[in-house]
Amino acid sequence: MSFRIISTGSYVPPRVVTNDELATFLDTSDQWITERTGVKERRICVTETASTLAIEAGRRALQAGNTRPEELDMIIAATVSGEYISPSVACMVQEALGATCPAMDVSAACSGFVFMLDTVAGFFVRGRVKKVLVIGAEQLSRVVDWQDRNTAVIFGDGAGACLLEAGDNYLASKLYSRGGTDVIKIPTSIGISPFFEGEQERPLIHMKGQETFRFAVSAMATDIQEVLEAAQIDQSEVAYVVPHQANMRIVDAAKKRLHIPPERFAVNMDRYGNTSAASIPIMLDELNRADKLTRGDIIVMSAFGGGLSSGACVLRW
Ligand code: ACO
Repeated sequence: MSFRIISTGSYVPPRVVTNDELATFLDTSDQWITERTGVKERRICVTETASTLAIEAGRRALQAGNTRPEELDMIIAATVSGEYISPSVACMVQEALGATCPAMDVSAACSGFVFMLDTVAGFFVRGRVKKVLVIGAEQLSRVVDWQDRNTAVIFGDGAGACLLEAGDNYLASKLYSRGGTDVIKIPTSIGISPFFEGEQERPLIHMKGQETFRFAVSAMATDIQEVLEAAQIDQSEVAYVVPHQANMRIVDAAKKRLHIPPERFAVNMDRYGNTSAASIPIMLDELNRADKLTRGDIIVMSAFGGGLSSGACVLRW
């Protein structure tokens, strides 16, 4: 007994930032960003935060699932950009929605949503929970170096949520980590010893784009193949792959290594950029609200990112 997804919700800040707008203060162009990443525009917080995005996405998932906050047994958020180290984003959601259940965050960067689903599957297996709200929420714009064209053009803000209940629809999963700060890191701005005399790292995203790219392509293709094998499902049976929305070229390269029909890869990074742990649930909510998902469909989720980390799972809709 694991879980099934009852309903979904998402929320992105209303402020749209186009590639052309970025080109007004960065040495870049709409053509470069479109060709190299597939991103045309992204949403950026002005007054919103990771928590306020998470609250709205969570509220929408609860509404769609006709569920009251008091019915929840747990709230988990996947994020690396909450406005507080403590309380967690999940605790902020719990308070705002008026839920009374335990709440906590999972930190696995862009792989966070997939790591969170596997974490919550354990609570279902042990019979500890019947209904859980899971949310991927990020305000990466607060840790992006807006002078760095290598990273500023990629990221966006947003949140996506799923309401889960006990069921047998979570079929197989894989999680992977290769720890290190050499490829991607986001240092914290606090916690430096008052006696430290060296140079403090800037609390912004540092990323080696090409190394991340190579890791991502290989991880996505391998992880998808392995979880489908573990679930004994043929690639041709997949209704949708919901990949982490990092770069269109990463998804295209992974497609070439797999035998899943290319049109079954769902993408919306052109409108939202890379929203880290929020990208998969935002995409899933779009598919769901557009009535593109049918009960029984095989869905594969695949993510990769800081850590380094990667993960994938197969579930039946
Ligand atoms: N506009 C114009 N030129 C640029 C830009 C830009 N925005 N960014 C880089 N360039 C230039 C570079 O300076 C370089 O110029 P040079 O040849 O004169 O030195 C040239 O374009 C090529 O740069 P590359 O870094 O080789 O470009 P690449 O094709 O690799 O694209 C990118 C860069 C988009 C970052 C790509 O590597 C990528 O998507 N990597 C993966 C990122 C990712 O998936 N991150 C997810 C995890 S993040 C997390 O977990 C928080």
